[in-house]
Amino acid sequence: MIALAIGDIVGRPGRRVLSSLLPEVVREFGVDFVVANAENSAGGVGITPEIGAEILGKGVDILTMGNHAWGKKDAYEYLDAEPRVVRPANYPEGAPGRGFSVVRSRSGLPVGVLNLGGRVFFATDLDCPFRTASKAVDEMRTATRIILVDFHAEATSEKIALGYHLDGRASAVFGTHTHVQTSDARVLPGGTAYITDLGMTGPVDSVIGIRKEIVLERFLTQLPSRFEVASGPACLSGALFDIDEATGRARSARAVQVTE
Ligand SMILES: [Fe+2]
Ligand SMILES: [Fe+2]
Repeated sequence: MIALAIGDIVGRPGRRVLSSLLPEVVREFGVDFVVANAENSAGGVGITPEIGAEILGKGVDILTMGNHAWGKKDAYEYLDAEPRVVRPANYPEGAPGRGFSVVRSRSGLPVGVLNLGGRVFFATDLDCPFRTASKAVDEMRTATRIILVDFHAEATSEKIALGYHLDGRASAVFGTHTHVQTSDARVLPGGTAYITDLGMTGPVDSVIGIRKEIVLERFLTQLPSRFEVASGPACLSGALFDIDEATGRARSARAVQVTE
């Protein structure tokens, strides 16, 4: 099966480019399953029930989140109610929502999707993503061998290490959060597809999705400012994984980036 993982959808431009380009990508590559990171889908920070439903209605099978999962207040109830949205599994017990979910692909295959948050360069004290990953993967493997993992993290080292930690146990491990696509897509020795970061689905002429003038001003003055999502042409970024559905092992991994 071909699975497509889409990097952080940023605001309206990200949702627009998803609508316009996703059908083409799905057709061209024969995609059977789509996972997308939606932590920036509502105005650049968080998700709302309306926006979640909008993206899931556009051919995305499941949404992952990240450090911005809690950006909008009605997200708490939404994450509890919607099994097709997962937030980092290593939040302390009691956090709203779930960290992983098994859902069906277009052709009816069960696919497990796990979301994890990194700890390096983050102020939050999450549980160990490595130990959380092992437990979650073991649990999902009772239902399916096709397992996709979104590691929402800053440090490349932490992401690569998690790739090796799950090598042979997950079908694909991909990073999100930096909004910049890395050129290291490959299949690890044990058969897990890997890429350090999928990149962003959002406005190209920006600083990771935000209006460049505002970000520059913040760096120059160190004064607080309100971030706004940039406008202009957007790109869809992600990666395609070819997975053997009998074994759950990946045959190939490649990055994709299409600009409108
Ligand atoms: Fe993000
Ligand atoms: Fe993030």
